[in-house]
Amino acid sequence: MSIAQILGVSDRNNRRDRVSGCLMFHQGHILQALEGERADLDRLMRRIIDDPRHTGLRVLSDMPIPERRLQEPMSLCADPASLLDRIGLPCISRLTANEAETLLDIRKAA
Ligand SMILES: Cc1cc2nc3c(=O)[nH]c(=O)nc-3n(C[C@H](O)[C@H](O)[C@H](O)COP(=O)(O)O)c2cc1C
Repeated sequence: MSIAQILGVSDRNNRRDRVSGCLMFHQGHILQALEGERADLDRLMRRIIDDPRHTGLRVLSDMPIPERRLQEPMSLCADPASLLDRIGLPCISRLTANEAETLLDIRKAA
C-alpha cells in the first residue's frame, strides 16, 4: 500500500467534498479522523470500506461535532510514536474512542 497514493487521492477527493481529515500510520495500523457533512462522510466511508488495501476496519467514534478540529483535507501525523508517548500508549491497535479523541486534541499534524 502506497501511503503517498492514498494521501494524494484523499487530498483531492476530500477537498472536493469539503471533508477534513488526518491519518496516523504506526506499526502497520492506521488511525484516521474525518470531519464533514453526513452524506459526504457516508459516501467516503463506503469507498474506504470497499478498499482492499486494509483489513479489520473499526469505527471508534461517529458523532455530530460543534466545530471542526481539522483544517486540511488530509494531513499526515508526522511523529506518531511521540504523540502516543504523551498519553502513555504503546500502539494504536486497541484504541478506545476516548483515547482517539485525546490524540485528536493533542495531535501535531505535519
Ligand atoms: C487508510 C485509508 C484511508 C483513506 N482515506 C481516504 C479519504 O480520506 N478520502 C478519500 O477520498 N479516499 C480515501 N481512501 C481511498 C479510498 O479507499 C478510495 O480508494 C478512493 O476514495 C477512491 O477515489 P477515486 O474514486 O477518486 O479513485 C483511503 C484509503 C485507505 C486505505
